[in-house]
Amino acid sequence: MNFELTEEQIAVRDAAREFAQTELLPGVIERDDKQEFPAEQIKKMGELGFMGMMVDPKYGGGGMDTVSYVLAMEEISKIDASASVCMSVNNSLVCWGLEKFGTEEQKEKYLKPLASGEKIGAFCLSEPEAGSDATSQKTTAEDKGDHYLLNGTKNWITNGNSASIYLVIAQTDREKGHKGINCLIVEKGMDGFVVGKKEDKLGIRGSDTHSLMFTDVKVPKENRIGEDGFGFKFAMSTLNGGRIGIASQALGIASGAYELALAYSKERKAFGKPISQHQAIQFKLADMATEIDAARLLCLQAAYLKDQKKDFGKQSAMAKLYASKVAMDVTVEAVQVHGGYGYVKEYHVERLMRDAKITQIYEGTSEIQKIVISRELLK
Ligand code: CAA
Ligand code: FAD
Repeated sequence: MNFELTEEQIAVRDAAREFAQTELLPGVIERDDKQEFPAEQIKKMGELGFMGMMVDPKYGGGGMDTVSYVLAMEEISKIDASASVCMSVNNSLVCWGLEKFGTEEQKEKYLKPLASGEKIGAFCLSEPEAGSDATSQKTTAEDKGDHYLLNGTKNWITNGNSASIYLVIAQTDREKGHKGINCLIVEKGMDGFVVGKKEDKLGIRGSDTHSLMFTDVKVPKENRIGEDGFGFKFAMSTLNGGRIGIASQALGIASGAYELALAYSKERKAFGKPISQHQAIQFKLADMATEIDAARLLCLQAAYLKDQKKDFGKQSAMAKLYASKVAMDVTVEAVQVHGGYGYVKEYHVERLMRDAKITQIYEGTSEIQKIVISRELLK
């Protein structure tokens, strides 16, 4: 067993850290306040190779491993979780799914601009009445011979407006249950496709979350990913990897809050000494650091297994379940360490606390992660 990072992995982590400090930190409070998508910053992230990190260079990607991806996601998420969710969806849901299961033509046409960051992708599974229970979705993709006719509404879609390429999961044959579901590549601008309202959220307010409406959208057959009926398996397999991204996001939110709390505890004085000299604060820091290290090890283990082409679904669910709980616990404590200052925007920790909550909800709630883990345990 080797816990050392390679020189390349360290270089990726340091580049992400530098980028987050210089490009994401300025303006992050304002973007959160105004619900402003970090468009310029995401463009630069694409230029630096952060939007298609694991994609083969022949399709414009960085050809990096998943461990490097975890390290970069942690650094970006420490500063701006709205930017990191865009990065996570593009890398591990959209690019990964297209590279693994797409045809050569689909990779040329869609993966290349996504991997280079020229375009942004979205993954569209959830609906107003179907989130956790994903097979009960109502959106239909009716088989019309050379094309599908897409009708329905998707909800809560990350990158909803900023994306231009959408992977949409829809029912073709309800009788067949999950085997009657397909995943179609839909382009912004296709007739009948409308981007709906933007959600006004508790956290990750810079991320643009929208509903999407499809009315008789004609999607060519060549835009289906995989065989007929592969859509649900596609979604589940893709989410296995996506959950490593969100686990790393949660890890980053936690470690960002911890670093702020640690620094503040050395500066702030109470009862004649820095609050870091009070054992109650020291114990909080000890708990935070321990939980963060455990979360990081789970994220890296899931990434390592994926890189080794071994089963990683259980491990990615465990990493997401645990890291998202750590993100909540640590951010609440980081606000506490800051006292009243923690409750105002200027000190960043209140935003991190608000951002943390979503990691227990999207890409499968914590309850769903426990279903995924326990099914594997009981197999
Ligand atoms: N990996 C691979 N295949 C899987 C799988 C996994 N993790 N989970 C299920 N499958 C397969 C099963 O093997 C089964 O196939 P077979 O019949 O051929 O064996 C098929 O999928 C159906 O599985 P189930 O019968 O277990 O399906 P279910 O209806 O009981 O639901 C579930 C299973 C795990 C609860 C699933 O519905 C689920 O994951 N729900 C959560 C949905 C989710 O995570 N949504 C996230 C949306 S994207 C997002 O949120 C992005 C973002 O915010 C940024
Ligand atoms: P429900 O499924 O209605 O769950 C409600 C509660 O019941 C939860 O606590 C849940 O854990 C619990 N529950 C449900 N079923 C069970 C069960 N069997 N056992 C125990 N407890 C259960 N989706 C996308 O497809 N693409 C995206 O890009 C995307 N981005 C998102 C961004 C944001 C900001 C948000 C808020 C959501 C996003 N989602 C996205 C949707 C997200 O994946 C769903 O919200 C999530 O899967 C939960 O579904 P739901 O909201 O319908 O809750």
